[in-house]
Amino acid sequence: MCGMIFTVAIDGPAAAGKGTIGRALAERFGFAHLDTGLLYRAVGVKGGDPVAAAEALSEADLMRADLRSLEAGEAASRVAVIPGVRAALLAFQRSFARREGGAVLDGRDIGTVICPAAEVKLFVTASPEVRAQRRWLELGGEAAAQSYEAVLEGVKARDARDMGRADAPLKPAADAVLIDTSAMSAEAALDAAGTQVRAALARAGHG
Ligand code: CDP
Repeated sequence: MCGMIFTVAIDGPAAAGKGTIGRALAERFGFAHLDTGLLYRAVGVKGGDPVAAAEALSEADLMRADLRSLEAGEAASRVAVIPGVRAALLAFQRSFARREGGAVLDGRDIGTVICPAAEVKLFVTASPEVRAQRRWLELGGEAAAQSYEAVLEGVKARDARDMGRADAPLKPAADAVLIDTSAMSAEAALDAAGTQVRAALARAGHG
């Protein structure tokens, strides 16, 4: 759509389904999509000084094949507590959010810090057990290097670190719509999200 600034902010804990919903919404509505977790993952795996790594982050860093690993997720959540890292990644995310033609961003602080003016704010969550199960299956289930219990421990540790940090902690924005996907199919979750986007597009006069 021409002349349209429209942001969908999707926040929530690890493995809640934000990425799947974000990608599918972007496709359905023709918006650009940014998985902001990849930025923190790339900084986490780069090594050296995390603030310098965030300041110098390049396209190539975001193309690394190992960014989706459990280790990269761990490393991401450790560098994500550093205010200088978050500050270095802010401007890129903000301009992506307000780019022409609409944007979907998923992460932890999109509705609260990156784009408080987002037209749609979703907080996608699920119980730690359901999220650990999904992540474990993604990693190969019985063939995965980690047991389900180990993945569950990791999910809980990451939740605690993401919610407990001082700078941009994970929490729903006051005006976010909560989608608990614990007992929902991927299709049902996507429908719920799509309904919110359609309503907001109509409110903004793009319906
Ligand atoms: O895919 P998953 O939900 O497991 O993780 P992710 O979205 O790729 O994020 C990895 C880590 O990066 C999170 O645990 C956060 O600590 C951090 N992160 C953040 O602080 N802020 C964001 N906007 C996105 C990710």
